[in-house]
This record gives sequence, C-alpha cells and structure tokens, in this order.
Amino acid sequence: MVLELKEKEAMNIKFENFIDTLDGEDIFGKCDRVDEVLSSGVLTGNEGLGMVTMNKVQPDSKIKEKDGHIHDVIMLGSNSYLNLSTHPQVMQGAREALEKFGYGMGAVSNYAGITEIHKELEARIAKFHGTEDCIVFPSGYGANIGIVSALCGKNDVIINDAANHASIFDGCVLSGAEIKVFPHRDMKGLERILSRLPEEKTGRLIITDGVFSMDGDMAYLDKIVELAEKYHCRIMVDDAHGVGIVGPTGRGTAEHYGVMDKIDLHVSMLSKGQGGLGGYCASTRKVVQYLRLYARSYFFSTALPASVAGGLNEVYKLLETDTAGRKELWEKTNYLKKKLVDAGFDIGHSQSAIVPVMIYNEPILFEMYQKLRERGVYVNIVTYPAVRRKECRLRLCTMKDLTFEQIDKAVEILTELGKEYGIIKK
Ligand SMILES: Cc1ncc(COP(=O)(O)O)c(C=O)c1O
Repeated sequence: MVLELKEKEAMNIKFENFIDTLDGEDIFGKCDRVDEVLSSGVLTGNEGLGMVTMNKVQPDSKIKEKDGHIHDVIMLGSNSYLNLSTHPQVMQGAREALEKFGYGMGAVSNYAGITEIHKELEARIAKFHGTEDCIVFPSGYGANIGIVSALCGKNDVIINDAANHASIFDGCVLSGAEIKVFPHRDMKGLERILSRLPEEKTGRLIITDGVFSMDGDMAYLDKIVELAEKYHCRIMVDDAHGVGIVGPTGRGTAEHYGVMDKIDLHVSMLSKGQGGLGGYCASTRKVVQYLRLYARSYFFSTALPASVAGGLNEVYKLLETDTAGRKELWEKTNYLKKKLVDAGFDIGHSQSAIVPVMIYNEPILFEMYQKLRERGVYVNIVTYPAVRRKECRLRLCTMKDLTFEQIDKAVEILTELGKEYGIIKK
C-alpha cells in the first residue's frame, strides 16, 4: 500500500534537506535536487502545486492535474468559507471599481496609490472592530510581516503560540526582537514565559491566531487578555479564519470571548472568509499612522487593486449586518463534523469551518490525498513545515454553498479510503 516509502527514504526527500546549499554546490544545485524528486513520480504531497482550478470558487469544481487530466471534485479545500468571492453584490462592487479605476493602482499608497474606495474599506473595517482606524495591506502575508517588524525591534520580546501562522514567525524574525514560543493554547506555558521576563524588558507583544489555520480551534483570548494585563503586554490577534465566521455577530474570536476592546491589534486577512485579497490591522489612530510609515510591506509595496477593495466594501456591508450566510455555513460545518466523527475519524478540536482529519502517517497521507482527488474530493494536505510531521493531516474547509448531498458523498469517499488505509476501523 505504501510502497513508495523505501524509495523516498533512499532519496532522502524531507523538505528541510533542500533548504541549504551543499558543499561544492552552486546555489541552484538544490533546485536541481528538488526537480529530480518532483519528476521521479514519487509522491511528496506537493502534487497540488501544478494543479489548475477550472472555475470560480464553488463546491462543484473541475481541476486539471499536472499531467493535464481534468476531473470533477467536491471542493473542500477553499478558505472562501462564505462564498463571497462569487457573491453577486461583491462582484458588482468589484466591477464598478474596475471600470472607474482600472485594474492596477500603479503606485504604493504613499505615491497616490489609494482611492476613496480604499479609504472607505479602511473605515468600514475599523468600525467593524470598534477601533479608531485601520490600515489595509496589499497582501495578508505582507500584513503580518509588516506589522510585527514595524512595531517590534531588538529591545522587545514577542511571545507566540507555537501554532501561529508562518507569516507571524517570519515577521518576528524580521523584527530582530527576542522570540518566545509557548505550546499551542497552553496558558500555563504562556504564564511561565511571562513571569520570567526581566522587568526592564517593557516592550512585550503576545501574538496569537484567533482561529488557528491548521487546527481550526480558537485561542483562549479571555485568559490571554488577563495575562496580558497582569504582565503588561500588548496583544495582536490574527483572526484570518475567524472574522465573518465565529462570534455572536461574526466579528471573530475576540467577539466570541467578549474581549474586542481589549485587543490592541486586530489583524485579519481579506483573502479567506472575505474572499478577496490583502490583510489589515485595525487599531488606534496613532498605531495605524505609525504603521503607514514604518511597515515596509505597506510603504514599499503597491496598493491593492481598486477592484478588490470595491468588492471588499460590499463584503463588509454584508459582514456588518451579519447577512453573509454565517448560519448556513455553520449548518454545513456541523453536519460535516458530525459525519466525520460518526465515521470514526479524529478531527481534533475544531471550533470553526476548518476541520482537520488526523492521519499521523505521512506516506499514507500522501496516498490518501492523491486518491481522494482521483475519486472526486479536493482537500488540503498538511504536514511539515506547517505542522509537525507526526501530526500530519488532511484539512477540510467547509463552504456555505456546499449541499448536504455533497458532504455525504465526500464523507463516503473519505470513509472508504480511511478504512482502506487503516485510519478508521472497518
Ligand atoms: C492565520 C493566517 N495568517 C496569515 C495568512 C496569510 O494570508 P494571505 O494568504 O492572504 O497572504 C494566512 C493564510 O495563508 C493565515 O492562515
């Protein structure tokens, strides 16, 4: 069943073995070595890289595999949870902005790269989180590296949940600050770190995802707020997967815990539930003003196209009134989770539209990922470096527009394969 295992070991194909240039090798040598592995036919879990999606984001999708083979899949691998990337009102907003301002901004924000449409978006997002102002970055990844590296430097300490998104860790490295990490959602671990910080280290930032992107669970923001107050820290929450989805009115993890006004930096991406592109930080007027000047991924990067900002204004109109279809999304999500648990899968502790299906065995994971697509289900594959190898998994993401029949069908196929590979009992 897992015949490729020996071959893989022989080729020593672990991701981390291709990062460094070997003695005597040119810097492109590692590219040759990666190419050799990827063209060998051995499964590496990266088969999605050359794949093409043939339609808009929607539950019934067609994909073209690397080898040109086209087939139908039920889409359980998109973060467009609310299907807002195809919402008629959102598309109309994008269309109007496109007609008015063209398809690119042609300059960074500081050099006349933003329009009234961008300003409206920032104001809407600030209002949504109850903050004074907001800065919108042209990319989500760029938002995190820009915010963290602008606000923190060599005199500061940043305390991270171990499962924070890669862009946060990259921002931490770029900042030059001291980096501390506590085990995922371990509040005792967090307090242990905080209690040992030297008194003179006064620049302290706790960063956590709101909803965690690989596990779908939520940070204990109530406890984090308590600890931040006790140990005089600022708090940044990246709620890329929570905004629009969790909380009584969809305002995210901070709303879920009733601590919206206690979060110093409300960060989210505009690319997931919001269905567009970009990232932001909603905070005080002064912090946002500082970021406009010192966040290099904002200052030195061309602004978001007006069409995307125009679509996002419509997205926020729907989110403000909680009319984006959150209830329907939760019906589908809860249905999927129940079916997976009933089938015997370990789905961790998801509290969101992200549903991990734990596999715990990389060779089996690679094969299941491949077979699922062949049999008509598209899911995400998650292993190192996104999570520890021994915690590898499939990641399913629900969408509001999925039908219950599609969910039934997908779980049926997953169950067949789960049994075949011994992940669940026959
Ligand atoms: C928690 C989190 N933060 C940041 C990002 C980066 O956002 P984007 O993909 O919009 O650049 C992602 C998505 O990959 C994410 O899941």
